[in-house]
Amino acid sequence: MTARDPDNGASRLTEILNHGALNLALAIGYRAGIFDVMDSLAAPGDCHQLSLQSGVDARYLKEWLGIMVCGGIIDLHNDSDGVERYSLPKHYADHLCRRAGHNNLGVYMQEIPLLTNCSLEALLSVLASGDGISYDHYPSFQGFMTQLADAKHREVLVTRFLPFVEGGRIFTALKKGIRVCDLGCGTGLAVSLMAAAFPDSEFVGLDRDPDAVSAGRRSAAEEGLQNLEFGCIDVASAKCARAYRSSFDYITAFDAIHDQTRPLDALRNAVTMLQPAGAFSMIDIAASSFLAENRAHPMGPFLYTVSLMHCLPVGLEGGGAGLGMMWGRQKAAELLSTAGFTKVHVEEIPHDPFNLHYYCRL
Ligand SMILES: C[S@@+](CC[C@H](N)C(=O)[O-])C[C@H]1O[C@@H](n2cnc3c(N)ncnc32)[C@H](O)[C@@H]1O
Repeated sequence: MTARDPDNGASRLTEILNHGALNLALAIGYRAGIFDVMDSLAAPGDCHQLSLQSGVDARYLKEWLGIMVCGGIIDLHNDSDGVERYSLPKHYADHLCRRAGHNNLGVYMQEIPLLTNCSLEALLSVLASGDGISYDHYPSFQGFMTQLADAKHREVLVTRFLPFVEGGRIFTALKKGIRVCDLGCGTGLAVSLMAAAFPDSEFVGLDRDPDAVSAGRRSAAEEGLQNLEFGCIDVASAKCARAYRSSFDYITAFDAIHDQTRPLDALRNAVTMLQPAGAFSMIDIAASSFLAENRAHPMGPFLYTVSLMHCLPVGLEGGGAGLGMMWGRQKAAELLSTAGFTKVHVEEIPHDPFNLHYYCRL
């Protein structure tokens, strides 16, 4: 296999420069809410009007509009009155505005700029040594993960994912009342959605990040969720296994195993924490453990970059396993078996082509 377009290196690299710039500008536009403003207009708006409604200074906005128009994201209308007006086509608005919900790509536009900000220098400093980078380098990461979790979970977790697990068996059990744990819950969006939807079940969210756990506790209190508690704990630790031995009927881990420093211990703990008839759902990136099989992955460069800038270095910290986000199906299934799950069923998720569901039993 060869790299694409070998005869046309300069034009492809120029295109990449433009796309990198567009990613950054799209992130700025999403963050500043400019797309939402444009989406709300009945007709194309001029720079002054867009500035007034978005709160972005007109001079900065004009420069930003230059990027968007040259990049083919925003349409420029040269009207007969000589005023330049701008509109956001619906096919972009549907993915760049906060209303996009599960289809929101605007939130993902933040990821590479954010990771560049958090960890570029730190990564360059450990490239030679192979050392890891601590979570402390990613201060704004949990806030971003909460936005991402919102886009990923809010519309589909309770209505589509849980009814799909084991043909609805877990959904029925959740309605009746079971004990559930979410490992590496972050600020707890997924576990809060479950707790709100299934008042007869009891939920525990576990994460080692004290700020994330505090945020989860705050929002659970605000929502009045009596059936949800949080623990600030390393889910790979012996302390966690002791505290929650045989405590749960169902355990989930959304995007929370591959960046652990001791993923095998975390999975062994999941085995220990389950009741004998319990089940474990690990949701993780859909990829192969073999690079050749990932070549055609529609988000391959993006996902490997997120891994290089975050998942891999945090997973290498203190001599950690450093699986990386693209550890892949084969390695994941092997680790789950090694941890003690005797039945590991790997399946695609109908509404989510970018993740796989590893459904495991003891
Ligand atoms: C990529 S985030 C996913 C968060 C959340 N599950 C979601 O879907 O938004 C991974 C989370 O795992 C947590 N984490 C990593 N290693 C951990 C460990 N050993 N024990 C507990 N939490 C851990 C991190 O603090 C982070 O909140």
